[in-house]
Amino acid sequence: MISKQTIDKIFSTIRVEEIVGEYVQLKRAGSNYKGLSPFHEEKSPSFVVSPSKQIWKDFSTGKGGTAISFLMEIENFTYPEALRHAAKKYGIEIEEDLREISEEAKHAQTEKDLLYKIHEVANTYFQEILWDDKEGRSIGLSYFKERELKDDIIKKFQLGYSPEKKNAFTEYALEKGYSKEILEKSGLSIFPENTPAGVDRFRERVIFPIHSFSGRVLGFGARILKSNVKTAKYLNSPETEIYHKSNVLYGLNQSKQAISRKNGCLLVEGYMDVISLHMSGIENVVASSGTSLTTEQIKLIKRLTENVTILFDGDNAGIKASFRSIDMLLTEGMNIRVLLFPDGDDPDSFARKHPQEYVEKYIENEAMDFIDFKAEILLRDVGNDPIKKAEAIRDIVKSVSFVQNALKREVYLKEVSNKFGLSEQSLFNELDVQKQITQNQTHHVQQQQKEKAAPKMEIVPPDKEKEDPFLFDVLFMENKLVDHMLMFGDIVLKRRNENNEEYQITVIEEILHHFEEEQYVFLVKENEIIIGQVREGIQKDELRSGNFFVSFMDEEITTKVVDALIPLDELENWASRNIYPPNYGDKVADQIKGDILLHKYRYIDYLITETAKELDLHSNTDETKYYELIKKITLLKQASIRLSNIIEYSPIKGIYVDRKR
Ligand code: CTP
Ligand code: MN
Repeated sequence: MISKQTIDKIFSTIRVEEIVGEYVQLKRAGSNYKGLSPFHEEKSPSFVVSPSKQIWKDFSTGKGGTAISFLMEIENFTYPEALRHAAKKYGIEIEEDLREISEEAKHAQTEKDLLYKIHEVANTYFQEILWDDKEGRSIGLSYFKERELKDDIIKKFQLGYSPEKKNAFTEYALEKGYSKEILEKSGLSIFPENTPAGVDRFRERVIFPIHSFSGRVLGFGARILKSNVKTAKYLNSPETEIYHKSNVLYGLNQSKQAISRKNGCLLVEGYMDVISLHMSGIENVVASSGTSLTTEQIKLIKRLTENVTILFDGDNAGIKASFRSIDMLLTEGMNIRVLLFPDGDDPDSFARKHPQEYVEKYIENEAMDFIDFKAEILLRDVGNDPIKKAEAIRDIVKSVSFVQNALKREVYLKEVSNKFGLSEQSLFNELDVQKQITQNQTHHVQQQQKEKAAPKMEIVPPDKEKEDPFLFDVLFMENKLVDHMLMFGDIVLKRRNENNEEYQITVIEEILHHFEEEQYVFLVKENEIIIGQVREGIQKDELRSGNFFVSFMDEEITTKVVDALIPLDELENWASRNIYPPNYGDKVADQIKGDILLHKYRYIDYLITETAKELDLHSNTDETKYYELIKKITLLKQASIRLSNIIEYSPIKGIYVDRKR
């Protein structure tokens, strides 16, 4: 866990305009910056950054937040990942908070940190050997050169070389103070009984570091160079505390932005396939690296896109792997296309043979949907054998049965029916049989997904709000008052009491006081959370206004706060047209007084209609309750009339005002 102090330090050091500026070309517009949304194709800029408020807002997608939430959005980082990234950029040392963690967890945490550290050390070491060492250059670097890799791509993927000497790295790491225990745990070294000096696992191989989503080195793949040696071509890190191969996709860190931008991901088999495609300018590509695709890996892709194109070798192993991947991907709700390369080509060799544009076009035109693909493969040597043909169709329908979305499933089934000239009905029957088989297999997974997808508790279901104008009105004012608190919370208002004595009160206190006086029950969950925080702040003598909530860790609240802090007006470049928007802040005192009255008025009306509904329920059943409710309605109506006498709309000020003053 990153300590609270570090988080505060990060937030106070980083500049939203600098962090966003690395991804979006920003131009000054008055006190803000403007640019093209990085989340949406657009021609006129709708993306605003406010350096004074340290927030951004994207009007084309409605997203907004802090520099940290921007990193989460654009890099698909988790919160801690984004914090660590920002800390690194600004050279802020991360202090871990280990207080509330058990001894055991503390130990695990430090061990994990050590594993990360040793991988970082090894990664630097292997690269230094590759570039600066005689053996590294003459063997490792020249191997990559032989495979036509350019310097910048070797650096981008941080490729390295592990020398021939038995314990070159182990010796280096021990000298640096790393223990045998951690070296062994990391899988980088092996310590056989009779060799206390240790042995490097990856000796005499070129090195492919495997990165996490956010760019930390988790493990290595290492390729042998000699072709005459009888040992595995690739050696990979074993499973460790930080490397679980089923949770990792090779190249994801280098490719995630392109995957997001292109809204599509190419899935290949090997390290070199990813690297060669990158070199030819096709950067939305990841590899499952020798393992068959797992659900966790698909979920990593799904954070970025739902569209996957499988690019596998055309050999039998490739076909088998692609069939399995198809069913896995369909189960996870992905859209799939498949392309097998011809004549012993794999994506690596194909990308090196042809220019970028040709490769892109080829993938675009030749990739088939999974039904055509499976049909082509399965019918290849069926000939006229009806039994074999039926077998093939059954296999295709089985894949269709993995599609979770009913509408999509039907569309696919129609396609199969057209393709083979079979009635849809018979295919439906077959689908039912297949579904029962697969459902038994996937029921558990689906159940878990359902639980995860359950909507967050909402106090007001959206439809109810539309139907009930009273509810809508009071909701509207509730939101408005909370927005005022966020925007002008710390502004001090001058008010007069009944004896005409002047007193001072902050906007936060005045609105809070109103809510408390009415014993107001919040209709919107986010507002309730915000007000709870504001109250807590008052008890601690701090005014929690917009800036406090912008860095609050709740996406819905951050969005709400940012919406309040950057109103749509700011998109317009008023200054450049020499006109200025009405300054909301100037009339804030009147505005807030009027809005409180109006909220109160509408709340009373809402309570009247709600009580009337209750009355309907009890009219025949409970006499005491019935009269109690009648009395309540009468009192509420009196209050409503009193209020309507004092509230007046001022067309000049454009707000509601108290008629008496
Ligand atoms: N692989 C592995 N262990 C092996 C063989 C393969 O982990 N013994 C993984 C590697 O990630 C490799 C991928 O499976 O990149 C695909 O294997 P293969 O097609 O045999 O290798 P290529 O990627 O074509 O490697 P190269 O071009 O370097 O021969
Ligand atoms: Mn290859």
